[in-house]
Amino acid sequence: MSEKATLTIGDASYNLGVSIGSEGEKCLDIGLLREQSGCIAMDPGFGNTGSCFSSITFVDGEKGILHYRGYPIEELAEQASFVEICSLLIYGELPDEKTLTKFRNALAEHTALHGNLTHHFSGFPESAPPMAILSAMLNLVSCFHPDVLEVYSEGHGFDRTAALLLSKVRTIAAWSYRMSVGKPFNHPNPNLDYCANFLHMMFSEPYREYIPNPVVERALSLFLILHADHEQNCSTSTVRTVASSRANLFSSIASGVCALWGPLHGGANSAVVQMLEDIRSSGRPVDYYLDKAKDKSHDYRLMGFGHRVYKNFDPRSLILKEKVYDLLAELNKSDPLLDIALELEEKTLKDDFFISRKLYPNVDFYSGILLRAIGIPLDMYPVMFAIGRMPGWIANWRELHDQNLRITRPRQIYTGAQKRSYIPLSER
Ligand code: CMC
Repeated sequence: MSEKATLTIGDASYNLGVSIGSEGEKCLDIGLLREQSGCIAMDPGFGNTGSCFSSITFVDGEKGILHYRGYPIEELAEQASFVEICSLLIYGELPDEKTLTKFRNALAEHTALHGNLTHHFSGFPESAPPMAILSAMLNLVSCFHPDVLEVYSEGHGFDRTAALLLSKVRTIAAWSYRMSVGKPFNHPNPNLDYCANFLHMMFSEPYREYIPNPVVERALSLFLILHADHEQNCSTSTVRTVASSRANLFSSIASGVCALWGPLHGGANSAVVQMLEDIRSSGRPVDYYLDKAKDKSHDYRLMGFGHRVYKNFDPRSLILKEKVYDLLAELNKSDPLLDIALELEEKTLKDDFFISRKLYPNVDFYSGILLRAIGIPLDMYPVMFAIGRMPGWIANWRELHDQNLRITRPRQIYTGAQKRSYIPLSER
């Protein structure tokens, strides 16, 4: 700690340590504040509270910057593969060819699900949300590999457990879709790359094998890369909180899936497409929905807009917007929802309500249109986000264990009734 800060409460002053991150971000160390002063810090929603020192991902929300392990997202999106990004995020460095081949082989080895697991899928109703199936099945898969329940750090099977998770999540996701549409499961093909294998399990039919399409596979890889990590967001903080009790990797990540599900987080991508569909089918002008989002008498929001950290463009949305155009052109498709999205964006950028609140399109605004072009069904969009976020969750789980962090346990300020005596039922 190279700087000091002083906090004055009433007549007393307290020295607080100041820590500075590698990109110049500063924090005050208030760890001993309650012991010294009797005060705790209050920050509902943790908008201004750090929970860890991390070397995985850097976000500068004011400047619209995102780096994974120091590498700008724009460069990674253009040049890397999702599997490379998994290795980078989890292990800290871009893999060389030998490391990457070993990692790829580990992923290929673990794609299949245990034979006894298949009948568990039929226990879900066809209407079951794929995110519910995914979180439940992740815990279930771990029961078939008891060794993964004991993994706490590298050297104790971490590499195998991480590969197992990254690999099997694809199969669970694809099979939950196949089950929901009443189609037979496609067994994984270990000869296919990560994205091609997933598309095969989703879309191969007994009468028509999935034909690898590099354009679609590249678009899917890009989607996954852009979702791979985003520092201490709601689901990653959940994974860390659960992991802090020393829960195993599978259960920690299953809880991350549940946190991701909500429409303010990973559920926003399907909510955006639903919103665009509603706008289109209503025949109303876009302005009607802009006014509705600005009207404080109800809680309608423009989905895919705003972000806790970005107060400028979300760099992921800029990349996705460009790639959606490219993908539609390459596939010779058009999508009327893209025109509505573009009109919404253009109008919000000129509207005081959105300008003053710094509300820009976030990662979810264009990602749904990309997934639509690939042919992914709407209720699978949050599941696609979860597959992408897997390496970030795993990297954070590992970092927390490596740093041997304390159990997460925030405090509160109690505002309920003061001590009172029990009143027997007959006297109430
Ligand atoms: N449409 C209309 N108004 C909005 C929106 C929106 N999408 N987002 C925020 N606001 C307003 C909000 O009403 C508030 O106004 P006021 O100051 O007058 O009360 C102000 O902007 C600040 O909003 P907030 O809710 O305090 O901001 P937050 O940092 O707590 O929430 C958010 C961030 C992403 C949850 C929120 O912007 C939102 O609900 N967006 C829509 C859902 C969405 O797109 N979520 C995906 C987030 S990015 C990927 C991810 O993390 O999964």
